[in-house]
Amino acid sequence: MVLHPDVPLHSALFTKITAAMLLTVVVVVVVALVVHRCMMRRCTSTRSLAGMTAIVTGASAGIGKETAKDLAKRGARVILACRNQTKAQLVADYIISVTGNKNVVVCLLDTSDLSSVRSFAEEVLKTEGAIHILVNNAGIGGKEIQEITCDGFDLTMATNYYGHFLLTNLLLKRLKESAPSRVVNVSSLAHFFVWRLNLKDLNFKKRSYSLLKAYSQSKLCNILFSLELAEKLRGSGVVVNSLHPGTINSEFVRDEMVMSWWRKPFLLFARIMLRLLGKDSELGAQTTIHLAVSEEVEGVTGKYFDECKEATSSWLAQNSGLAKALWEITEADVQLAPSEIFY
Ligand SMILES: NC(=O)c1ccc[n+]([C@@H]2O[C@H](COP(=O)([O-])OP(=O)(O)OC[C@H]3O[C@@H](n4cnc5c(N)ncnc54)[C@H](OP(=O)(O)O)[C@@H]3O)[C@@H](O)[C@H]2O)c1
Ligand SMILES: *[C@@H]1O[C@H](CO)[C@@H](O)[C@H](O)[C@H]1NC(C)=O
Repeated sequence: MVLHPDVPLHSALFTKITAAMLLTVVVVVVVALVVHRCMMRRCTSTRSLAGMTAIVTGASAGIGKETAKDLAKRGARVILACRNQTKAQLVADYIISVTGNKNVVVCLLDTSDLSSVRSFAEEVLKTEGAIHILVNNAGIGGKEIQEITCDGFDLTMATNYYGHFLLTNLLLKRLKESAPSRVVNVSSLAHFFVWRLNLKDLNFKKRSYSLLKAYSQSKLCNILFSLELAEKLRGSGVVVNSLHPGTINSEFVRDEMVMSWWRKPFLLFARIMLRLLGKDSELGAQTTIHLAVSEEVEGVTGKYFDECKEATSSWLAQNSGLAKALWEITEADVQLAPSEIFY
């Protein structure tokens, strides 16, 4: 710095401005935290699930783990549908130890792989006489560089959407037999980021790919799927709803999402923001639990929820013609056989 007679004055001013800015940031963060806290709602239902069976996909971490724990606490038989046996078994042991419910089991499922979905469904249909609750929760934020799965799908679309589409269809027969039953789809506010759904290129093969585009599109498809399935199942006693869980400090932001060093700081920033502003996973599971168990939403179907209340999804997500078209394309993409159709 160049020496100057009024440097002390300048630096005093500078310190004041810096302090004012810091104070503003602190105030904004605190206000945001307080507002966020006040808006958080919990599932208030005390309903018992004794004698009922629930499946939770992606129950080895975050929202899925807390959802599974709550359902187990209510006495349900809970199947943790997870891709990592070791990690899932540790969670099962933990849930058994804190709830005292020994009826918690792991069954392997990789939602990004259609053959894994088919063998999971086969196994579960063999062992489970009834399925009352299916929580389609497993999901990834995606990766900076696109990956294509063995079935030829975009990895994010496969994990968050295609796998659950097939899974739900394969379990539909049992869900119907077990009615009243419920399908809960964990979507995201991110679905609002999609302006136009390109049905001809759902897997980003002909257009440019980005992590955010793939993630938000997969979450839009979740809602549209729910909408169309709800329509198809009207009167069957099976209800289907989707939700945004909130901003949750789970394991969602993962190292593998980003490869380039210059983007790594964004991951760190995202983690810090989630830490500061996000809800913990136990709170993050409340809307999912509400839709899975609460008497308040009995018979409600084809709706979108946020903070345990019905909310408005995007304009695209409410387009029933689009939902129908997407359903038909997806059905062909996952090669749903006539013997696998139960709607
Ligand atoms: N966190 C948020 O702020 C937020 C906001 C909106 C929506 N969501 C949605 O909430 C859902 C749960 O996310 P979370 O925040 O709880 O994240 P998380 O802590 O990362 O948990 C994700 C779960 O999904 C599992 N999973 C990922 N890929 C899978 C696959 N191919 N097959 C089977 N399971 C798989 C993970 O298994 P492993 O343990 O083996 O990795 C884990 O159990 C996701 O659908 C996400 O899109 C989250
Ligand atoms: C599975 O989970 C275990 C325990 O958390 C972890 O050590 C292991 O790396 C995981 N495996 C894979 C393939 O992610």
